[in-house]
Amino acid sequence: MAHIVKILEGFSFIPRKELTLLEALEQENVEVDYQCREGFCGSCQVTLIDGEVAYTTDPIAFIPEGKILACCCQLKSDLTIEIPGGCKMKKNEFKS
Ligand code: FES
Repeated sequence: MAHIVKILEGFSFIPRKELTLLEALEQENVEVDYQCREGFCGSCQVTLIDGEVAYTTDPIAFIPEGKILACCCQLKSDLTIEIPGGCKMKKNEFKS
């Protein structure tokens, strides 16, 4: 079943279910910090307001309460998330 991602102060979309949250956000041209993409560095943290995710790999990085690592999780339900610094679109989104 498809789930919806709602970005606070942003928009909602339905990602392909095989994508990680980070991949899904990238496909929507949302700017998200990342480095390792494997659960080591913790730089891809977003705030989970509502919903549930499943980790595709055991994250090594410390995950503060209320945060999730976008690079290594997939949706288990509809999600409401907040992106640190707000929902910004990648600049190349605006090129024609
Ligand atoms: S990008 Fe490093 S933990 Fe997600």
